[in-house]
Order: sequence, then structure tokens, then C-alpha cells
Amino acid sequence: MLTAPLFAGMDEGSSTALIASMKVLDVTRGEVLFHEGEPGDRLYLVRDGKIKLGRRSNDGRENLLAVLGPGEMFGELSLFDPGPRTATATVVADAVVLELGHHDLVTWLADKPTVAEHLLQALARRLRRTNEALADLVFSDVPGRVAKALLDLSTRFGQPVDEGIRVAHDLTQEELAQLVGASRETVNKALADFAARGWVRREGRAVVLLDVDRLERRAR
Ligand code: CMP
Repeated sequence: MLTAPLFAGMDEGSSTALIASMKVLDVTRGEVLFHEGEPGDRLYLVRDGKIKLGRRSNDGRENLLAVLGPGEMFGELSLFDPGPRTATATVVADAVVLELGHHDLVTWLADKPTVAEHLLQALARRLRRTNEALADLVFSDVPGRVAKALLDLSTRFGQPVDEGIRVAHDLTQEELAQLVGASRETVNKALADFAARGWVRREGRAVVLLDVDRLERRAR
């Protein structure tokens, strides 16, 4: 059973009917679901896997707004505020996503006001998060932002293991740096420092958080 804000407030019959009306897409790492600037007429719900939302500057640098996992939705902004896509959606780890046309969603929303309420809640949560990320860019140093990004990724993709929490984020070092908003070298240095202190252990495209308390303190 997929839990998502889109289905919160719906009875099981309605959510089953809504899921049945959505198109299921199997997508693989590197596939682009849509590009920033394109017109958008559908939204997506992640059932499995990971999707990154990124923006590119005029000189070609990339910034990641978010990495989304199961239950999360994207592509709704161009519905609520008609206009071009505000980010590019790319598959980070093989994923299954459900696709719903904006037109179909509007029909559902008209019929189920509580669904609209839950969607607003999801948008409000995202705005809070974005405000926090913005403040961190201004007020926090890179190691603080790396610590925060790891903790944030752990809430989505973390699995408890004997030593702590294993976070299989599937991001390359470059992608992790784009998420933190710093150079690969600086992010690497912060991670190496955390590892030397025994706070984390790096395992390719995963990291084991060994000392969550210290990371939380460093993220503040
Ligand atoms: P849309 O603009 O249609 O396409 C890009 C999507 O990225 C957008 O809808 C949102 O769903 C998502 N998105 C944009 N900004 C953020 C953000 N700051 N955090 C998480 N998701 C975002």
C-alpha cells in the first residue's frame, strides 16, 4: 500500500480508484522525466526508487533542490501555478513512478476537498524545508550543511543497522555536492573529516551514520 499526501484523507476505495487511473512507469537511473522550462501537464508520485530535482545555471552548474523517495510527489507546481517546469526530474536509482494528468487531479480535487488540504500541507512542509535550506546556505558552513543533508537523507532512505543508520542515497560525490550547494572537493573534505572522527563510514553510494548525535550537533 502506498502512503502519500495525495491519498491522505481518502477512503481506501477512492485511493485504489485513483491509483488505478494513474499510469505506471518503470524508469532507470539517468532517465529524465521532464526538463526545467518545459510545459507540464502531469504530476508524479514515487512508488519505489529515487528521483532528483535539479536546476541548471546559465553557465552550466547544477543545483539539486531535493532527492525524493517513496510516497513523495513532484510536478504539481505547474498545475497550481500554471507555467513551465521549475526543475528537471531525473532518476537517481531505478524507480517506479505513477503519473497523473493535471486535468484528472483537478477533477479529483473538486470532488474531495480533504485531498486538497493534504496537498497544501505537503506544499507548506516543502516551503518550510526550502526556507531552512536557504538560511543554511547563508548562515551555515559546508560541514554543517553536509551533516544536515546526511540526516535529511537518512529520514527518507535510512535503514537501521547494528552500528547506526545506513543511508543508501545512490548519489555520486558530484550529486551530493550539488545537493549541499558546495564544490565536490569541500564536501569530500567534510565527509573525510566526519569519517576520521568516527561519525560516519563511507561505502560507495551509501554512508553509515555512526554517531547521529554528533552529526545533529554539527548540523545546528
Ligand atoms: P514543477 O514545477 O511542475 O516541476 C518541477 C517540480 O519540482 C515542481 O513542480 C515541484 O514538484 C518540485 N520542486 C520544485 N521546487 C522544489 C523544492 N524546493 N523542493 C522539493 N521539490 C521541489
